[in-house]
Amino acid sequence: MKQKGLLYSGKAKSVYRTDTKGQLIVEFRDDITAFDGGKKDQLRNKGSYNAEASAFIFQYLEKNGVKTHFVEMLDPRRMLVRELSMIPLEVIVRNVAAGSIVRNYPFKEGTKLNPPVIVIDYKDDSRHDPMLNDDLIVALKLATLKELAAIKKAALKINALLVKLMAAQGITLVDFKIEFGRAGKTICLGDEISMDSMRLWDKKTKESLDKDVYRFDKGDVMATYNRVVKRITKTAAQKKVPAGTGGKPKAKPMTAKKPKVAAKKPVKKSVAKKR
Ligand code: C5P
Repeated sequence: MKQKGLLYSGKAKSVYRTDTKGQLIVEFRDDITAFDGGKKDQLRNKGSYNAEASAFIFQYLEKNGVKTHFVEMLDPRRMLVRELSMIPLEVIVRNVAAGSIVRNYPFKEGTKLNPPVIVIDYKDDSRHDPMLNDDLIVALKLATLKELAAIKKAALKINALLVKLMAAQGITLVDFKIEFGRAGKTICLGDEISMDSMRLWDKKTKESLDKDVYRFDKGDVMATYNRVVKRITKTAAQKKVPAGTGGKPKAKPMTAKKPKVAAKKPVKKSVAKKR
């Protein structure tokens, strides 16, 4: 597998072409940003911590019947992925009120949201990712109603699986952001799921275990990311994760290789952007 030219560079990841049709390489860089790029830093090992968390979670989801772009890890920060035609939506699932919905709506921080609340934003930095509704999504031709239904269904399934994964290590999954793309007609999970894109609280201490540590200067960001990766991956090693809705999770920590994913029609670019 040879890495070719740069296809796209986001705030924290770069996407490269490869010599294999339908496959791209996502490189997780050490850059970290917050507040629409208003706060920026480089933190050593951040890329590899997020790559490891993402790879582990993608494999866990695949084993439970969720289609993702993950193929395998090439090294600690480079992930081989299936090429997707990305849909410019940021799908946020919330189990507990925190962050922007507390700022924008009369929710008290920490209020449980049951059923979970799905919020979909338009992925467009120049417009500050405005919130969409179904009518806007269809009118803007970002997705069809059928695709939107599939996206919401997948988002809720991913949420249920991740809530279990985190709970097994004493972590509350407050919320997270995911992005989807098309592989032919199939909706497939792309981008990443990491400490940058999830809001995680320690169940006992309520301590932040995610990018909020960076956003609000709450402590040693990389020490936190490192601890979280270890906690998450330990979960599976201990066989504590109950089976999800789609199948049986395997008790295997993240490894470089992943079980083969059924071949899909190659489509266009897989990309990533972070808040
Ligand atoms: O800021 P807000 O509360 O809306 O974020 C909700 C969740 O989505 C958080 O976990 C945040 O890290 C994630 N997010 C993200 N990228 C964005 C927007 C939100 O990863 N562009």
